[in-house]
Formats: sequence, C-alpha cells, structure tokens
Amino acid sequence: MKKRPFIHVNCAMSADGKIAGSDRKQVRISSDEDLSRARELRKRYDAVLVGIGTIIADDPHLTIKGASFYNNPIRIVIDPHGRTPKDAQVIDGRSPTLILTDDDCTEEWGTETETIKCGSPFSLAKAMELLAGFGIERILIEGGGKTIASFFKEGFVDKYSVFVGGLLIGGRDSPTPVDGEGWICENGLTLKLKSAKVLGNGVLITYDVR
Ligand SMILES: NC(=O)c1ccc[n+]([C@@H]2O[C@H](COP(=O)([O-])OP(=O)(O)OC[C@H]3O[C@@H](n4cnc5c(N)ncnc54)[C@H](OP(=O)(O)O)[C@@H]3O)[C@@H](O)[C@H]2O)c1
Repeated sequence: MKKRPFIHVNCAMSADGKIAGSDRKQVRISSDEDLSRARELRKRYDAVLVGIGTIIADDPHLTIKGASFYNNPIRIVIDPHGRTPKDAQVIDGRSPTLILTDDDCTEEWGTETETIKCGSPFSLAKAMELLAGFGIERILIEGGGKTIASFFKEGFVDKYSVFVGGLLIGGRDSPTPVDGEGWICENGLTLKLKSAKVLGNGVLITYDVR
C-alpha cells in the first residue's frame, strides 16, 4: 500500500445539517468554545487543506493567530483549474501555500506559493502521494462539502469531527459536510463514535473512520 498522510476532517454544521447558507455564504455556526478549539487544532497538523469553493466563498487565511511564518501549518488548496484569486488571503505570504492543480493548469501565484501538478485529470491519490513525498504526515481538512466528500469517497479519511451548532439554516441547496454527487452504497459509511462533548450552544462529535 502506498504511503499517504493521516487525514482529519473537521467542520461545523447547523442542527439541520448545513455548513453554509443556500447562497453559499459563510454562516457563523461554531460557538466561541468551538472556534477556540478549531484554532488550537491547526497547531497539531502539518497542513490545513480546503477546496477552491471555500476559498472563493469564504476567503479564509488558514493561519494560527500570532504564529510566525514557519510556525503556521502549510496551507493547501485543491484547485485543479487555477481559480484561486491573486488577492486571496490564503496566498498572503503569512505561511507557505501549496496549490494542487491538474497537469494542464498554467496559472502561477506569488513566491511563497508552490503549484503542485496532480495528474490530468486531477488525481486525489496522486496528490496524497506527492504530499507524503514532501514530508507532510498529518493534514487537517476544513472543507468544503465537495472536497470532504472526495476524501471520503477515496477512503482517505482517518478521523472526522463535526460541531453541531444550535441554529437552523434550512434550504435544500445549502451545502452539507459531505456533498458532491454522493455515492452508491446500500447502508452508508459506518463511523466509530469516539466522543461527544458539549461546547457552548452545540456539541462536538468525533468519529474514527477506520
Ligand atoms: N461550516 C464549515 O465548517 C465550512 C468549512 C468550509 C467551507 N464551508 C462552506 O462550504 C462551501 C464550499 O464548499 P464546496 O463544496 O462548494 O467547495 P469546496 O469543497 O471548498 O471546493 C470544491 C472544489 O474544489 C475542487 N476539488 C476539491 N476536491 C477535489 C478533488 N478530489 N478532485 C478534483 N477537484 C477537487 C473542485 O474545483 P473545480 O470546480 O475548480 O474543479 C471542486 O469543485 C461554502 O459555502 C463555505 O462557506 C463551510
């Protein structure tokens, strides 16, 4: 079996299972306690990864408050077609950034941003192999739904934690933690419950995936 990094998916959803509004705009779901936890969590991983949909919708910086360039996790964006805006916070030079593209992408970003070509079409398996080759052993995935779904679909997720916030968002088209096209399976993917903890007006649920 080929080596790949340990993958932890962490996200926040509303009590009706949505991770953003139907306009895909960010909604504050985490309690203060969960936000602090999520920020601390970044310190335990070599890299924090999101999909390009999250960069476009939320423009996150994915850094740790007050951390220096090398104390921040590496930031990784899955962006097969090079859609990351040149003024996105994720490439603000505050820590190294890797943009994972397909082989046909010719887009380039600043000096602190490295482009890694991951096949044509884009291959998540190849991406994981290349990241392992860079010495990245532990990756925290923070969204969005299509990205998380693709990791589950490939069987690459080791740990899944979801904060269920005390609010409803509603909307058939609002994104959910595991989006995309779904996959055909009779009984769903069984998770092993590790813990459930009240954090302010919500509950953090943690599962092992294998
Ligand atoms: N509540 C939370 O915890 C949380 C956290 C993060 C984001 N969000 C929300 O999630 C929403 C964004 O989610 P999203 O599902 O639209 O976007 P996303 O998962 O952030 O990005 C999806 C895009 O990334 C690329 N991609 C990701 N994985 C890929 C793979 N394995 N193979 C090929 N391409 C891959 C594709 O880009 P191309 O289309 O260019 O091919 C895909 O369309 C926003 O509304 C945001 O606010 C919520």
